[in-house]
Amino acid sequence: MLESYEKAGAIASKVRKEAAKKITAGMKVVDFVDWIESEITKTGAGLSFPCNISINQIAAHYTSPPNDDTVFCYGDIVKIDLGAEIDGYISDTAVTVVVEGDNIDCVDENGKAFNMPGRLDDGNPVVSDDDLDERYNLIEASSNALENVLSIVKDGVTLNDIGKTVQDTISSYGFTPIVSLAGHSLEKNNLHAGISIPNYPDGSTYQLKEGDHVAIEPFATSGAGITSDIPEYYIFSFVNNKPIRNPQSKVLLKNISKNNRYFPFAQRHVKTSMDDSHFVRAMRPLIMSGSIYPHAVLKDKADGMVAQTEHTVIVEKEGCEITTL
Ligand code: CO
Repeated sequence: MLESYEKAGAIASKVRKEAAKKITAGMKVVDFVDWIESEITKTGAGLSFPCNISINQIAAHYTSPPNDDTVFCYGDIVKIDLGAEIDGYISDTAVTVVVEGDNIDCVDENGKAFNMPGRLDDGNPVVSDDDLDERYNLIEASSNALENVLSIVKDGVTLNDIGKTVQDTISSYGFTPIVSLAGHSLEKNNLHAGISIPNYPDGSTYQLKEGDHVAIEPFATSGAGITSDIPEYYIFSFVNNKPIRNPQSKVLLKNISKNNRYFPFAQRHVKTSMDDSHFVRAMRPLIMSGSIYPHAVLKDKADGMVAQTEHTVIVEKEGCEITTL
């Protein structure tokens, strides 16, 4: 078991580092996520969830639909959140980068970004030096928050102490932690196994104990520090097999319950000959009946920029082992 956790961590860590180097302005998000996921699966590992690519004010839960037109623009602050799975044991890790390169494919002749599902800023995306400074500082705030938490994680640390460390570090940069997002415990075939690791001091005296597997993920924002749902859905989870009448939905649910049972998935991961519009139409009754849970895209409520840093760790007597270092 430990070996599988370590292997899943090492694969995710390697791909995360390569992805952070590869991303560049003008690149299509769908090509980027396809590449990341194939780097993971070609090792023989599975995906613990679809690679999340969340640009600027989007905090989490965006991944590309199959024919995504979204491209990265110069100056974007991009959260790359990915995970690998070996025999049901998982890793979950994220890094945030500011995109470099030329802006040519991102804007029309008036300097406006094209309308893309993965972006909220369809206005002028040209960033100033002050914007860039803020984005690099957000990244530093979230990564330092994670580093400071990792220095105190050991058997007996309370969730409140972790949350306080996140908040203190992020506020020392003049930013706000996102309190509606949290880290989480991991178990075999279970990405969110019950314990939430807060990004603010929530008063919890619950103590992590030796052997716990947890993903810790501080989010820093220049905005409200609370997320709101964008009613768009690209990531789904299988919940149960409720009887369904619509024949296309029935076939789709059978397929998903067989192949995507344990981990969140995107349309790209469902092996089906359905085209996009048939897929969306067949999914609707499954979501309505509660057989499939749709994860809404999350943005900062005040449209602040967002940075996230995440590692998976195993709690030890006198510290922790970071599997995704
Ligand atoms: Co996570």
